[in-house]
Amino acid sequence: MTPPSRQALVPFVSVDHMMQLVHHVGIEPLLVELADAIEADFRRWPDFDKTPRVASHSDIGVIELMPTSDGQHYGFKYVNGHPGNMRQGLQTVTAFGVLADVATGYPLLLSEMTILTALRTAATSAMAARWLAPHDSRVMAMIGNGAQAEFQALAFKAICGIAEVRLYDIDPAATAKCVANLAGRGLRVVPCASAEEAILGAQIVTTCTADKQYATILSDNMVGAGVHLNAVGGDCPGKTELHRDILLRAGIFVEYPPQTRVEGEIQQLDPDHAVTELWQVIAGHVPGRTRADQVTLFDSVGFAIEDFSALRHIHKRLQGTGLFLDLDMIADPDDPRDLFGMLCRAAPRQDAA
Ligand SMILES: NC(=O)c1ccc[n+]([C@@H]2O[C@H](COP(=O)([O-])OP(=O)(O)OC[C@H]3O[C@@H](n4cnc5c(N)ncnc54)[C@H](O)[C@@H]3O)[C@@H](O)[C@H]2O)c1
Repeated sequence: MTPPSRQALVPFVSVDHMMQLVHHVGIEPLLVELADAIEADFRRWPDFDKTPRVASHSDIGVIELMPTSDGQHYGFKYVNGHPGNMRQGLQTVTAFGVLADVATGYPLLLSEMTILTALRTAATSAMAARWLAPHDSRVMAMIGNGAQAEFQALAFKAICGIAEVRLYDIDPAATAKCVANLAGRGLRVVPCASAEEAILGAQIVTTCTADKQYATILSDNMVGAGVHLNAVGGDCPGKTELHRDILLRAGIFVEYPPQTRVEGEIQQLDPDHAVTELWQVIAGHVPGRTRADQVTLFDSVGFAIEDFSALRHIHKRLQGTGLFLDLDMIADPDDPRDLFGMLCRAAPRQDAA
C-alpha cells in the first residue's frame, strides 16, 4: 500500500497536544499572545467575511458552526452549549475547528478547541476590558465558577493587572475547585457566599454562568457607577444573565451586532437600541469608555473571528514543537483526476492460491 503523500496529511492538535503546547508557552504568556492576535484581527475587521453563526437549537442546548475568512485563510469552529451536560458529568461547551488555505481550499490544521475556546474567550474578554474597564481596575468579581472561570481570572491578571478575584457560584463545589486551581498563581482569591458579596469593591464584574433561561445574575441595584461588566454566559436566544434595566443605562459594546442582537444580553432590548462595535473602538473610529462613572458592558457571545485568530496563532506556535499528529485526511491521487484509480489500487490483494 502506498503511503499518503505530503499533501494528504493535515496536522491535528489533540487535547493532549494542546495541553502540552499551553504548558510549553505558559498559560499567561499564551493568553497575552492570543489577546494580541485577536486585537490585531479586530483592528482589520473589514477584511473579514462575516456571518452570524449557524445555530441548531434544541430544548436543552445548541450546536453551532462559526465560519469566517480574511481571503487568505478560512476557519470554522464546531461548538456546542448544553448547560445540563454537567449533571451527566459532561462539559457544557466542547469544540473543534479547522484552518484552511483559501488559495487551494486544503485544510492547514485540525484542532481540538474546547481548551482553545476557554483560552480565546478569556483573552477576548480581557482584551475588551483593556479598552473599556477603568484603568486602575485591580479587583474582579467572577460569578459562575465553572470550566471557563480560571481562564478568565488568569487572563484578567495577565492582561489587565487584576490582583484580586472574588468568586461566587450557586454550587459551592465549583467555587472550591476554582479556589484550589488558582492557588499559588499570584492572585488574591476570595470565595464569597453571594453575588452581592462578590461584587464588593470590584471594578470589573464577569458573569459566566450556564443556565438555559432569562436569568438575573445581576440586578440593577447591584451595579455601581463606573463598573465594567464582562457578560460571557448570555449567548443564546432565551439565555441571558443581566437585568434589562442595567442594559438601559450602560454603554454597550458588542462583537458582531447581527449575531449579538439574537444571542446576547441585548436580545432584551429594542432591535435598534444603540450599541458600539468593539472593533470600531480598537481601530480608533469611536471612543470606548467616555466617563469615569460610566457603566460599560461587553456583551460577549463569541464571534468566529476570535476562533480564526486563535487557530492561526496555534498554527504558528506549533512550528518546531512536534506537538501534533499528521492525519491522512485529504485524498491525494498522483493524477488528480484519477481518484477512482487510487481507490481501486487500494483494494485488498486476491493472492492466487
Ligand atoms: N461568550 C463566549 O464567547 C462564550 C464562550 C464559552 C462559553 N460561554 C458561555 O459561558 C458560560 C459558562 O461556560 P462554562 O463552560 O464555564 O460552563 P460550566 O457549566 O462549566 O459552568 C457554569 C457555572 O455556572 C454556575 N451557575 C449557574 N447558575 C448560576 C447562578 N444563578 N449564579 C451563580 N452561578 C451559577 C454553575 O453552577 C456552574 O458552575 C456558558 O453559558 C457558556 O455557554 C460563552
